[in-house]
Amino acid sequence: MSRPQAAGRLPALAQPVAAPLTRAAIFMVATLNPGLENRATLRSFCGDLAALVRAVEFRDLGAGLSCVMGFGSDAWDRLFGSPRPAELHPFGEIRAGTRHAVATPGDLLFHIRAKRMDLCFELATQLMARLGDAVSPVDEVHGFRYFDERDLLGFVDGTENPRGQAVTDAVLIGDEDAAFAAGTYVIVQKYLHDLGAWNALSTEAQERIIGRTKLSDIELDDSVKPTSAHNALTTIVENGTEVKILRDNMPFGRAGHGEFGTYFIGYSRSPRTIEQMLENMFVGRPPGNYDRLLDFSRAVTGSLFFVPAATFLENVTADQANEAPPGIADSAPAGSEPSPSIQSVREGSLGIGSLKGDPRHE
Ligand code: HEM
Repeated sequence: MSRPQAAGRLPALAQPVAAPLTRAAIFMVATLNPGLENRATLRSFCGDLAALVRAVEFRDLGAGLSCVMGFGSDAWDRLFGSPRPAELHPFGEIRAGTRHAVATPGDLLFHIRAKRMDLCFELATQLMARLGDAVSPVDEVHGFRYFDERDLLGFVDGTENPRGQAVTDAVLIGDEDAAFAAGTYVIVQKYLHDLGAWNALSTEAQERIIGRTKLSDIELDDSVKPTSAHNALTTIVENGTEVKILRDNMPFGRAGHGEFGTYFIGYSRSPRTIEQMLENMFVGRPPGNYDRLLDFSRAVTGSLFFVPAATFLENVTADQANEAPPGIADSAPAGSEPSPSIQSVREGSLGIGSLKGDPRHE
């Protein structure tokens, strides 16, 4: 992934957000336990993450192992204080009719991808061993590729993702929040499908819900595509230009338990884009003209995270984190100022990457 260059500043290197869709993925959401030692453990973990990934990756360099780490809004305040990413906030639930986009706890997200599940699993194991009691797991989903990139509804999922330079443009923060350049926002939702009811529909009815043909994955012509089609409601146009997001959805399930799901994960340089898509899907555009996919799919989790640049993570240290810094409680509310000690750690090391040139740090 490229490095966006903000004027007068060394470029920050992004986390591997744009890694391709793989055969296997693990999505882990955890909460950070209270206590300053846990905060210190997490901070020192940030700096070690890249080395852990390299160690597991080296066991099969061809397997394309990657890991993206994100932080929820409250966790950001507890771990790093200010400055904070301009658009970081907790996931806002949406209720409309019987539809409910739930908001569920999540301080940390790990999005692990590889061609081989054993590598994903090994990395997840090593990460959790390193984090130990500092975190509590909330949700863990093991996703798999289903035939030719299909979801369990039988449709190809991911076709209209941006490619090449368009990925960087869609996903990575640039000058609009220069202190956090090369960062991104990610929203995850775990959906469970009523596959029996879905499969009772005709293929044509399913195609009108998704907005594409099932076998050949061709977009339906506007003359036949309903305005409530999934791909219509998730198309966002601003000032005449389509605003894209990057999706890395994966199927998961437990056949013996009748559990069939899609793990939705969407990256975007502004969370507003995905939030607008969700509003269109759940409430409808116009209201009432909602996404019929939701008559067959229920969101059981929902969280929003900020994914800082890799450069940011590498420069976080545990220094001073064992002490209770004045001005930033262990569970400091949003907007609290960090202590001078924390501030100096951030200025001293993080300045190499994303924060240098930020007037707040000069
Ligand atoms: C039950 C969960 C979901 C399933 C099974 C699903 C499935 C699909 C499928 C099959 C497509 C068409 C192929 C493609 O372009 O990828 C698609 C497109 C898309 N989906 Fe979803 N999706 C889900 C949830 C979401 C959510 C929650 C969002 C955003 C909030 C979203 C955003 C999009 C976007 C932006 C497109 C591309 C639209 C276009 O430009 O044509 N999807 N999805």
